Amino acid sequence: MSIRSLLAIVWAVTPVIAETIHGVLVFTRHGDRTAKYHSGYQMTNLGASQLYDSGRFYRQRYVENGAANRIAGIASNQVNNQQVWARAPDQAVLYQSATNFLQGLYPPLNELESQSATKALTITSNTTGPLNGYQFILIHGEGETDPDTIWIKGDDACPAYSRASESYTASIEYKATLDKTSDFYSQLANLLAPVMGEENVTYKNAYDVFDLLNVATIHNGSIVSQITADDLDQLRYFANEYEWNHNFNASQPGRSIGGMSLAGAILQRLQATIDTSAVRNKFQLMAGSYDTFLAFFGLTNLTAAGENFYGLPEYAASMAFELFTEAGDLERPASFPTEDAVGHDLKVRFLFRNGTDGSDELAVYPLFGGSELAIPYGQFADILGSRAINSVRQWCVACGSTQDFCVAANATSSAAIGPSSKTTAFSSRSALSNAAAGGIGAGITLAVVAIIGGVLLTVLRKRKQSHAMTVAYAAEKRSSGSDSDSV
Ligand SMILES: *[C@@H]1O[C@H](CO)[C@@H](O)[C@H](O)[C@H]1NC(C)=O
Ligand SMILES: *[C@@H]1O[C@H](CO)[C@@H](O)[C@H](O)[C@H]1NC(C)=O
Ligand SMILES: *[C@@H]1O[C@H](CO)[C@@H](O)[C@H](O)[C@H]1NC(C)=O
Ligand SMILES: *[C@@H]1O[C@H](CO)[C@@H](O)[C@H](O)[C@H]1NC(C)=O
Ligand SMILES: *[C@@H]1O[C@H](CO)[C@@H](O)[C@H](O)[C@H]1NC(C)=O
Repeated sequence: MSIRSLLAIVWAVTPVIAETIHGVLVFTRHGDRTAKYHSGYQMTNLGASQLYDSGRFYRQRYVENGAANRIAGIASNQVNNQQVWARAPDQAVLYQSATNFLQGLYPPLNELESQSATKALTITSNTTGPLNGYQFILIHGEGETDPDTIWIKGDDACPAYSRASESYTASIEYKATLDKTSDFYSQLANLLAPVMGEENVTYKNAYDVFDLLNVATIHNGSIVSQITADDLDQLRYFANEYEWNHNFNASQPGRSIGGMSLAGAILQRLQATIDTSAVRNKFQLMAGSYDTFLAFFGLTNLTAAGENFYGLPEYAASMAFELFTEAGDLERPASFPTEDAVGHDLKVRFLFRNGTDGSDELAVYPLFGGSELAIPYGQFADILGSRAINSVRQWCVACGSTQDFCVAANATSSAAIGPSSKTTAFSSRSALSNAAAGGIGAGITLAVVAIIGGVLLTVLRKRKQSHAMTVAYAAEKRSSGSDSDSV
């Protein structure tokens, strides 16, 4: 561990002075699950408990009465649904992760009431809700065919990502590791030969090999004695290298499209807090996969803050973004900065917690290769925005995607600028706004509007018809453990 990350941890536990937290956004990994290799994998009770514990942890830090870092004005016991916002992909493991986290963030009301020494809690009706006053919090579920699916699962159904990511296996670096590790993997081949075939127990399947044996050491007593802790560490190390390279390469932006989309989502959601002067969206949650974490770590230079960021995050690991001002305190929170002052007075702090054990600290790290542990929101939004995918259309172009929702977006681009245009995949301006900036004629504009309208209608009609099919297909894909899922 570097000195800098030690310092970061010390910072995290030091009580804060003259500070008001206005909003927090958390992105979490799922909890313990069965091996991804097998179809129909699912969260375990252990995984559900990890997420629940993580929710409790964030509750103790940001929500409950007397919390040291309580978000200004957040409801402590009875959830205020305008203050909490959540999103997860329509995939069982990730959706359940968000659910279990929120169960910990706002536990059943009756449980809180009986624990609470004060009588401040009011239950507005005489009827107690089911499950001991279970608190319902809406989670926006994003299906694979919803445009909003790109924000958390930007690497799924993205041909440019798949190409860039897979190109790792053609690199000299890959071949070197494959050769270097063949003896090591062959020593373990007998353990997994019945599952995946002896010839497949190599670096070529570094993640699956690690995942299968990691899951087995947690859940299968008869395996524990057959694999040493050192071997498991070694397998993790190779899985780290394999997954890192699939999701980040400074000279191949395509490998990090998932991280770029997440960056766009983070900016949108923080903006959603800011737009309401933090009256709404005080605590926000998204659940996603390790590959998105890795791509994001690379994009934001977190590996410069600590070598550990090259590694796969633990189950239920989470990263958090705090929006705060350097004024006020818990008793007298400072008011939210005015519109003019937000870019400068509102600050962003990045934190990461690598798991849910009591010893796992939520530590602060500097972003973008700098040394500041908090930066003004304006600076944060400028830098992250320049590395992010900020619209569905930008994603469609970057990915070269043929998703239904991209048909409309792509038609818009080509109608506006013509097929010979040379828009680069990562230009932050969309094709249409370039054309608009250059001044397109009113006639063309009308034609474009007509085309978009037509395409949208077609897409909508098509979507209605194919909805049932899509649902069936998605269920099938999930239960077959499709290789694009990486949870
Ligand atoms: C990173 O990308 C460059 C340029 O495409 C390539 O030469 C190199 O082999 C890649 N490195 C890895 C580890 O994939
Ligand atoms: C090895 O993996 C390949 C690709 O997944 C699969 O087709 C093949 O059946 C596997 N070999 C064995 C012996 O299971
Ligand atoms: C545990 O591992 C053994 C092989 O060592 C295997 O035969 C058995 O099916 C595994 N049990 C479970 C529940 O996965
Ligand atoms: C999280 O923990 C895993 C497993 O111990 C490790 O490989 C990884 O580097 C850690 N990540 C960070 C950012 O600490
Ligand atoms: C941040 O990462 C990018 C991409 O790898 C790199 O080009 C840049 O030099 C890094 N910046 C700092 C300050 O570390």
